[in-house]
Amino acid sequence: MRIGFFDSGVGGITVLNEALKLLPNEDYIYYADVDNVPYGPKTKEQVKQYVFNAVDFLIRQQIKALVVACNTATSIAIKDLREKYSIPILGMEPAVKPAVEKSNGKRVLVFATELTLKEDKYHNLVTTIDSNNIVDELALPGLVLYAENFVFDEKIIEDYLREQLKRFNLEQYGTIVLGCTHFPFYKNIFERIFREDTDIIDGNLGTVRHLKNILEQKKLLSNSGNGNIIYFSSGRHEHDGGKYKKYLERAHP
Ligand code: DGL
Repeated sequence: MRIGFFDSGVGGITVLNEALKLLPNEDYIYYADVDNVPYGPKTKEQVKQYVFNAVDFLIRQQIKALVVACNTATSIAIKDLREKYSIPILGMEPAVKPAVEKSNGKRVLVFATELTLKEDKYHNLVTTIDSNNIVDELALPGLVLYAENFVFDEKIIEDYLREQLKRFNLEQYGTIVLGCTHFPFYKNIFERIFREDTDIIDGNLGTVRHLKNILEQKKLLSNSGNGNIIYFSSGRHEHDGGKYKKYLERAHP
């Protein structure tokens, strides 16, 4: 049986890329909800509906585990998904805890979608961890759209980020968190904008390690797969892999 990966769009490819490295003997299904991306500007109710439609579809494909490779979908629906389905379901949330632990007295800046940052799940996380008030946040909806439209022109992206970051003193950040799976596509540009010693963290590798542990525990690990991927765009099978292959190439550092 395959492992399902789900995102609103192409962001989850950055997580799938890590899975292919750590779990090369598995096969995968990748589902991008291209009809409804971006989720960030939508309401909680809309996103919940989209997520359940997508996951119902994936469950019908007989997956053995699901990675919700989307911070926004996780913050809206992970609890309800786990109540409804019995397969292992892994979610993603902005890596605020490791960021605060690493920050060494410097500030932390969390980038995510507007919906992730609005949700209680994020506020509760920050309230428990950020006792010294060192965490700031910024939504970057434009970056999701650039990724969806395969815009990788470094000047366009850098100009956009510098404009969004105008009101921040970039020197004060010891760690930044890429709390949306679309953002690691642009890690090199974040590196250029922030101080050389600023740590940039995302939850991708952590999530995939966790996936491996869970599969091991549940005796669901496969050794007969070979990293084969079936792609679906909102339920439509992309027979030749569609646009996703070129994103996977991009995700390779
Ligand atoms: N990739 C998604 C995330 O990790 C959401 C992007 C969007 O649809 O707005 O939050």
